[in-house]
Amino acid sequence: MNVTVIGTGYVGLVSGVCYAEKGNHVICVDKDVSKIERLRSGEIPIYEPGLKELADSNTAAGRLSFTDDLTEAMVAADVVIIAVGTPPLPNGEADMRFVELVAREIGYALNGYKVVVVKSTVPVGTNERVRGIVAAISDYPFDIASVPEFLREGSAVKDTLNPDRIVIGSESTRAAEVLTRLHQPFTDQLIMTDIRSAEMIKYASNAFLATKISFINEIANICEKVGADVTEVAHGMGLDRRIGSSFLRAGIGYGGSCFPKDTKALIQIAGNVEYDFKLLKSVVEVNQHQRYGVIDKLKRALGSMHGRRVAIWGLAFKPETDDVREAPAIEIIESLLALGAIPRVTDPIAVENFRSLLNHPSIEWCDSALDAAKQCDAVCLLTEWEDYAKLDLKEVERVMASPILIDGRNAISKEQLEGTLFAYYPVGRPMMN
Ligand code: UGA
Repeated sequence: MNVTVIGTGYVGLVSGVCYAEKGNHVICVDKDVSKIERLRSGEIPIYEPGLKELADSNTAAGRLSFTDDLTEAMVAADVVIIAVGTPPLPNGEADMRFVELVAREIGYALNGYKVVVVKSTVPVGTNERVRGIVAAISDYPFDIASVPEFLREGSAVKDTLNPDRIVIGSESTRAAEVLTRLHQPFTDQLIMTDIRSAEMIKYASNAFLATKISFINEIANICEKVGADVTEVAHGMGLDRRIGSSFLRAGIGYGGSCFPKDTKALIQIAGNVEYDFKLLKSVVEVNQHQRYGVIDKLKRALGSMHGRRVAIWGLAFKPETDDVREAPAIEIIESLLALGAIPRVTDPIAVENFRSLLNHPSIEWCDSALDAAKQCDAVCLLTEWEDYAKLDLKEVERVMASPILIDGRNAISKEQLEGTLFAYYPVGRPMMN
């Protein structure tokens, strides 16, 4: 099948590469000319395990190409996929500018029947708006469909090639047939539904996962006070198949480009139809508050923070990505700076991205976890990179001014702490010293 993917961000690029991997001819389009040039020369602008290898092999096989010319890219397309960004507006609503712009361009480029798929996360009703925009410009027949994306950063290729389900929202038999053919090689779990329900499934899924995280974080906060261990509690809960064990890792709250944006957007979508989504508002509030647990523990351990050197291990919003959007590290480091502390920060791959987001003269940029810990009064682990779970803490202890470790992700093991003098503050578990 001939597939044109518009937008080479996370979702567009990964989807494009994976559709090509399943034997389709894919053209990825972006109006950013320099990005297209980089992609053509084999450079992948995001860090995502396995993506470069797949992009290279499919380009070499002639199934994948990149262009900035949308009209040309659409000439032979059977399916046109909109995968441009929907960044949050100041009120939390998703910004539909790019989706609408692309819809107009598709209208002008249509040259025969095509299925126009919206993969960007968009509020309920957007597909119909896209249909209206295209139909106002073009007389050619086309169908609109919603096929939301459920990939996670850091395992995007794996998630896309082996999805739990693919949701296809369409009101046309012809489009449903085309999209079934395109997606059957990925999974047998194709959910055929109407467009509005498909749009809602995406927001409801992310909101539910965010709710699980805020729920377990509140349980963790209570565990700290009653002397229980949240990892034991989550394990015991998760074995009940109705609850499930995933997304019950307590920590410093969720970040990234999806949960924070999509939860706020769904609150806004509900608000627009005069529904007060109280539960989700609390989820957002709990998440916001959760990151400050690290600061509370530091204050408890150190008293005054002024002039204290504090190592920060991990800046990315989660491991295996260099993405720092909405990372809890941002507000934690801002708080440290406001309290007059000196953050010594490190991350295996996200330092450069973080520096372009928050570059304060008091921040000290470090090459490794050990380097960051030098002469520090405390260490805070904010991203559970595997490297940190393998560190020799005896070596770390030797370079520190005082051995205090705040583990924001419960990533450090008992074995690592054995034989050290660390005062260890996990989340929702008994502290050790
Ligand atoms: C999330 C969803 O998991 C994907 O299904 C969805 O497609 C994507 O958003 C999107 O809408 O595009 P992602 O943001 O890449 O994916 O990452 P997750 O692995 O879901 O993690 C999100 C945040 O939750 C991270 O900050 C992570 O540290 C945190 N988290 C996750 C927890 O604090 N505890 C957990 O148990 C799980």
